[in-house]
Amino acid sequence: MRKLILTSTVLAVSLVAGHALAGDQPAMPVPMPAPGAASLEPPPGPGLDLINQHCKFCHATSQVFMKKRSPEEWDAVIQMMIDRGAELSPEETKVVMDYLTAHYGTGAS
Ligand code: HEC
Repeated sequence: MRKLILTSTVLAVSLVAGHALAGDQPAMPVPMPAPGAASLEPPPGPGLDLINQHCKFCHATSQVFMKKRSPEEWDAVIQMMIDRGAELSPEETKVVMDYLTAHYGTGAS
């Protein structure tokens, strides 16, 4: 057991060292969220459950939470997704709509 730990430590150290030696590449810029960008941690709720169920066939759910939108914009986006094939009943549409406008709304109406 002790030998295993030692071996993996050596391996980790040599990996780090190898990486440092190959350091002629410029560091990757860390993408910063745009000002006003929505949180990537969506708060829990029935709307989130529906989004996780119905909105990730065609794109990641992070696509849904990328931007804050006015109620009109959310309405248009959700309608567009339904036209594209998202399977939401009118009741589910309302729950998703309420969730998105509450947590990812611009506040403008
Ligand atoms: C049948 C496939 C499909 C399903 C299901 C789907 N989407 Fe999309 N969605 C797309 C496509 C394709 C795009 C890219 C559209 C574009 O960029 O023109 C997109 C883009 C988006 C965008 C970004 C739009 C923009 O203009 O910024 C949002 C937000 C979004 N979807 C939300 C949802 C939500 C919410 C659901 C669930 C109710 C959902 N999508 C389900 C296909 C789908």
